[in-house]
Amino acid sequence: MKIGIEKISFHIPRQYLELSRLAEQHGTDVQKFRRGIGQERMSFPLHDEDVVTLAAEAALPIIKEHGPDGIDSVLFATETSIDQSKSAGIYVHNLLGLNTQCRNVELKQACYGATAAVQMACGYVARRPDRKVLVIASDVSRYDLGGAAEATQGCGAVAMLISANPSIMQIDIMAGLYSEDIMDFWRPNYRITPLVDGKYSALKYLQSLSHTWQDYQSNEGRAFQDFAQFCYHLPFSRMGKKAHMYLASINDQPVNKEKFMPGLVYNRVIGNCYSAALYLSLISALENSEEDLSGKPVALFSYGSGAVAEFFSGVVQPGYKAHMVTERHKRLITDREALSYERYLELWHAPNPQNGEEIVNKVETQGAFRLAKISDHKRYYETIRS
Ligand code: CAA
Repeated sequence: MKIGIEKISFHIPRQYLELSRLAEQHGTDVQKFRRGIGQERMSFPLHDEDVVTLAAEAALPIIKEHGPDGIDSVLFATETSIDQSKSAGIYVHNLLGLNTQCRNVELKQACYGATAAVQMACGYVARRPDRKVLVIASDVSRYDLGGAAEATQGCGAVAMLISANPSIMQIDIMAGLYSEDIMDFWRPNYRITPLVDGKYSALKYLQSLSHTWQDYQSNEGRAFQDFAQFCYHLPFSRMGKKAHMYLASINDQPVNKEKFMPGLVYNRVIGNCYSAALYLSLISALENSEEDLSGKPVALFSYGSGAVAEFFSGVVQPGYKAHMVTERHKRLITDREALSYERYLELWHAPNPQNGEEIVNKVETQGAFRLAKISDHKRYYETIRS
């Protein structure tokens, strides 16, 4: 039985900051951002957008086409949690009008959470092939102003329908795993920005890639040469390039740009979206590779600081292009507005009520869903367009 991705879709806000604006403010050569970390722009949410609205928008085309029937589980991966108890997925469940006969849970392990969700979903569908699981990864990456990591912010959500009818990609059973208790990036409950040891995190990312690759190989994984595309977790696009060069060197193989560059295209103009980043890279590879990937294996490397990593793979299905919402994705990227630096600062300092004070948001988003207000410690979402 084939199990994997039946539908996949992403969403980003309409606003972005051009990194040349940030370079001006920092007095940094813009080439450090463009060439050094491989980034041009970073997406930024408005005050009435958050991980819930991004997630609901990402899943909307899937639910519009497929309908809610058969979906009995929502797995919501995020490290931008809005509540320590209630899953963000329950708000999404309501906004999307999913059936009440549905389980719903939030998963967290830094940027790795969505990969755990995908694997759990595949395991569940193996047991219940008549059921489908909606996996959503949604994050807002926000670092301290003025710090080295500020240029690696971004945000976005990816939604995937996992089923026994994987019209886009079948997910292989074999996987390579690695876990290690380290402090490379973490966010204590009382902080809105993470603490990060940037250089150490990049080193641990690469070491984890090596460990997971070895484990993947020992589990009868595919050979390096067999893959048509490589998709990596992308905190910034140059990390993917470094990862690929490293993996090629471990395997004593030449670097073929065509096998990893298509996966970097979207991240370069969106930025880091943590748990969604690897799956944004997958969409980018499927939509930007010039080669028809039908029947071809794709490699995926997931890294979540702290750290858990996984190397796994899948096989792209014939006819996959007809199931992608490529036009919608391309429009999301092209039909955007640049933020001034002042407006970016205003959005960065989003209201963050701590003691029940009321925040009423103006209607700013052009999306279907919005965070209308936070009042009496409760978040109120609404649908404003169908
Ligand atoms: N022109 C061209 N290149 C330039 C340049 C210029 N004028 N100036 C500098 N560069 C190059 C540097 O040589 C360097 O290249 P190498 O990596 O090849 O050495 C690159 O630009 C970056 O420069 P620095 O190393 O000086 O950058 P930095 O220390 O100021 O910040 C960073 C880089 C550490 C990644 C920082 O952005 C950061 O902390 N980011 C957040 C953490 C992160 O993303 N870690 C990634 C792994 S962890 C993970 O993946 C989980 C996650 O999502 C967070």
